[in-house]
This record gives sequence, C-alpha cells and structure tokens, in this order.
Amino acid sequence: MSSSAISIKTEIPGPKSREITAKKERYVPLAFETLAPFFIAEGKGALVKDVDGNQFIDFTGGWGCLIVGHTPDRVVEAIRDQAGKFAHTDFTAIPYEPFVTLAERLAKLAPGPSPKQVAFFNSGAEAIENAVKISRKYTKRKAIVVFEGAFHGRTLLTMTMTHKASPYKAGFGPFAPDIYRLPLPNPYRNNMQFEDFERALIALVDPEEVAAVVIEPLQGEGGFIVPADGFLEYLRELTTKHGILFVADEIQSGFGRTGKFFAIEHYDIEPDLIAMAKSIAAGLPLSGVIGKKEIYDRIPGSSIGGTYVGNPIACRAGIEVLNIVEEDKLLDRAVAIGKFTRERFEDVKRRYAIIDDVRGLGAMVGMELVKDPVTKEPAKKECSAVVQECLRNGLIMPSAGLYGNVLRMLVTLAITDEQLNEGLDVLDAALAKVAGGK
Ligand SMILES: Cc1ncc(COP(=O)(O)O)c(C=O)c1O
Repeated sequence: MSSSAISIKTEIPGPKSREITAKKERYVPLAFETLAPFFIAEGKGALVKDVDGNQFIDFTGGWGCLIVGHTPDRVVEAIRDQAGKFAHTDFTAIPYEPFVTLAERLAKLAPGPSPKQVAFFNSGAEAIENAVKISRKYTKRKAIVVFEGAFHGRTLLTMTMTHKASPYKAGFGPFAPDIYRLPLPNPYRNNMQFEDFERALIALVDPEEVAAVVIEPLQGEGGFIVPADGFLEYLRELTTKHGILFVADEIQSGFGRTGKFFAIEHYDIEPDLIAMAKSIAAGLPLSGVIGKKEIYDRIPGSSIGGTYVGNPIACRAGIEVLNIVEEDKLLDRAVAIGKFTRERFEDVKRRYAIIDDVRGLGAMVGMELVKDPVTKEPAKKECSAVVQECLRNGLIMPSAGLYGNVLRMLVTLAITDEQLNEGLDVLDAALAKVAGGK
C-alpha cells in the first residue's frame, strides 16, 4: 500500500510561517502577494515541505519552471560544481563553454530545416523584448501584432503586449507604441473565421509595416487556450506572405510539457524565432531566443545582450535539464500525465456543472469554470475558493485565465503516478465542496 505524500501537522499556515509572514508584511511590498500562505523549507520532485514540517503536493511547479521537479540530483550537482569553478565572467568579457554547449543543444531541438542560433537572456520578458528588437532590426519594420489573452511579461514593452489589464497594466502606462492586438480564434469563447482574422489585421495595421506576430502556441496565463484547429498554420502562411516574422512564445509551453519539446511541433510550422524561459534551467534565471541564423546574421555585435545573460551556473543547469528530458523520456511522461489528468478532469466535468471545458495538450491541461454554460459567465470566485480549499488540504493548485476562472496543471513531469492521483483526489474533493453536483 502506498502511503500518502501529503502530511499536514499544523494549522495552515503554521506558527513559523506566521512569524515570517509578519516580517514579510513589514518589509516586502504588498505587490508580492503569494499563493501559498506558508514558507517553503525544501522541495523534492513534486513535493514541498514548509518551515513547520507540513508536506504538500505542488501542481504549480514554480509557475511552470520545474519540468524536472524540485532539486533533481544531477542539476544540484552541476550547480555545485559550477559555483565552485566560476559563477560569472560576462560571456562577452571571458566566454565559457556551457553557454556554447547549451546553445548547440537547443538550436538542434528547434523545429524546421533552417540553421539556428541561440541568444541567452535572464527572464521570459527579456527574451520577448529581444525577440521584438531582433524582428524590428531584421525586417526594418516597427509594428508588432499580439493576441487577446496573451501574456508576454511585465516590463514596459512586454506589459504592453500582455492583454490582461488588471493587475498587469492598470496605472502603469503610458504603454509602448506600435503594438496591435487581434482576437485569438478560441474554440470555447470565440470561433472567429480565419478570413475575418486577415480582414481585422488589414483594418488595424498595414501588414507591410508589421515586423512580427508574437503568439503563444498554447496560451498559458490566458487560460490554457489551444488556438482553433488550423489557425497556427494559417498564421504561418499569412506571416510568410507579408514578410512578417513568426515568433513563438514557448516560455510556458516549451521544454516538453505538451508532449513535444516545443508546443509548436504539434503543428507543421518552422517559427522564425522561439522565445524560451521558465523550465529551461530548472528554476535558475535563464531565458533565450532561438532564431534562424540568417536573421541573427543581421544583428550586429554588442547590439543585444546584458551583464548577466547566459550565466554559467544557469547554463550548466540547463544542460542537465536537457539530459533529464532525454534520459528520463519526459516527453512520453508528459503524454502519460496529460492522459491521466485529462481523464480525471473529464470525470469531474461530468459530475460538477461548474466545469464547462477541459482542454490542453499533453500535460498542459486546464479546465474552465463558469456559472452558467449558456452565458459562460466566468466563475472566478468559485475557482479561487477551490484553490484555497486545495491549499488547506495539502495541494498547491494553480489557476489562470483572463477572468481568473481556469484551473491548470503546471506540475513537474517528475511526479509519480501515486502523487498525481493523490493531488487530483484533493482537487476533486475541493470541487465537490465548492461546486456541489450537477
Ligand atoms: C507565455 C509567457 N511569456 C512570457 C512570460 C514572462 O516571463 P518572465 O516572468 O520570466 O518575465 C511568461 C510568464 O509567465 C509566460 O507565461
């Protein structure tokens, strides 16, 4: 018999967490609100122990950064080893091999026949900022097209590209110019025809002035939205027709979560640029842009970069992430986790009227909660009540969506079947408590 992974020994938050919270409230800005009301002491795989000795199952995976789980041995060893050799030079002062090795490995993983190169940065937003700069320099055009529901970051430019006004944009303007937003054909809420899309584009901005279209192949923060069938292929054709670069934001969907290394590989598409971050280095700050070599050949020396980009410890961690993905066959694991999760989500959908849509690719599965399946009025309060109920019972469960009404899985692919099942049982019980039956 397998024993349960969840172990709650104190009230949540426990006394030590409450003590730290009191200090946090004094010294850390309100803006850093947290999902978990407790403080972590250590993590392993999909499990997290708090400072009071309670153990939780973590479905957030550090908001999608921990495809290989908390503290995998070989990543920890590589970090220790590299930290003892050198922690920083700035690659443009004194170059080091792990930067080049990781670039080579990632370039070879990108889909399509064109030779590729890889530039490294620190965060997802920085990768997107640079993808925009590169697109503008290469095309000599200014306009950038993005989508409803998109999340691309919180810097001035990427905040402008992000859709959700509150909390990400409200009061933080003025925004960056030349960003144009179009609806995303979304099978659940907006089944627009593709011809309408081209009409909308042309009405908004001259396609000959557009440098890049930036799209998440599977929207993450927007609520795990898989664009309508055929749309991404259509968009690739449209961008090629007008000389626009196709930029895939794989910051959340990349690194195997969907069952392919990049989500865009579910389609027959070669993007011009791919932005990566999150799971790239097991939680260390690292991001990158894979681009066609012919594009990078037009970006002059020192015009992109930054002091900390491609940190050697993060690059070593990134190489180990790729080794683990390969050796532990994590793409197959994502498919298996996704299949099991989807079956459980479909099962709760049958039982609880509040769940109206289950969707995703591989292990990137979500479900949308609505008050009424006809009006599709988002059930935001209920969704957050489910998350809180999960927390009280040992599961850290992430939500998402423009309306905050989507429960989503960002769990590590290192989770065991037993832990996954146990976590999903907690979720099921939370839904039963909050949403009742049909
Ligand atoms: C699709 C996508 N793009 C960009 C970002 C921004 O990444 P970062 O928070 O590392 O700046 C995120 C973060 O959630 C994301 O999900």
